[in-house]
Amino acid sequence: MFITFEGPEGCGKSTHSKKLKSYLEGKGHKVLLTQEPGGTQVGKHIRSLLLNPESVLDETTEVYLFAADRSEHVSKVVLPALKEGKVVISDRYVDSTLAYQIGGRGLPEDLVRYINMVSSKGLIPDLTLLLDVSPEVGIKRAAQVGAADRFEKEKIQFHQKVRAKYLELAQNDPERIKVIKTDSRDIDKVQEKIRGIVETKL
Ligand SMILES: Nc1ncnc2c1ncn2[C@@H]1O[C@H](COP(=O)(O)OP(=O)(O)O)[C@@H](O)[C@H]1O
Ligand SMILES: [Mg+2]
Repeated sequence: MFITFEGPEGCGKSTHSKKLKSYLEGKGHKVLLTQEPGGTQVGKHIRSLLLNPESVLDETTEVYLFAADRSEHVSKVVLPALKEGKVVISDRYVDSTLAYQIGGRGLPEDLVRYINMVSSKGLIPDLTLLLDVSPEVGIKRAAQVGAADRFEKEKIQFHQKVRAKYLELAQNDPERIKVIKTDSRDIDKVQEKIRGIVETKL
């Protein structure tokens, strides 16, 4: 079982992926929690290139860096863990690339989908939890966690386009992508919803 967390900055991906891991382990599952970018040794270098506010990258360079990170991640971390029968939870995956690079950056849909297909080796999540939040709330939350990264520093319009693309993806694939609104829901309530959805799927 491959579960991914998606959503804009500060929606709660990191918080909830950790909580879901503990919950599933408590139920006796073997769980691997991982993330993109940065889920591998080489990926950590790619992550810092992508997130460092001092990196000046054009949008094509950016999408290929994400793809390189994903290719490593899928082949060296995700697929081996799935083969061992683990539940794999990834904090971001292919839908991030669609939302940020198509929605946010404006790259062509067919180009990004093709790059995603190659870098993911065609591996599609069984379940994607899209934590939806308005940019106003999300950016404020993200600021509690640390200094703003290269994406968090983008203007509000960028984040609005990312959010809109995520919601479009969910609308087009409601079987896989479940939307959970987090603006005015506290962490425990959101986690309760997530567990309900995951239990149904398991
Ligand atoms: N539903 C919520 N209500 C209030 N605060 C939240 C909620 N979800 C997450 N947070 C807080 O917002 C901050 C960002 O959450 P985080 O999990 O790091 O988001 P992400 O990984 O999606 O950027 C953290 O301080 C977290 O405790
Ligand atoms: Mg996070």
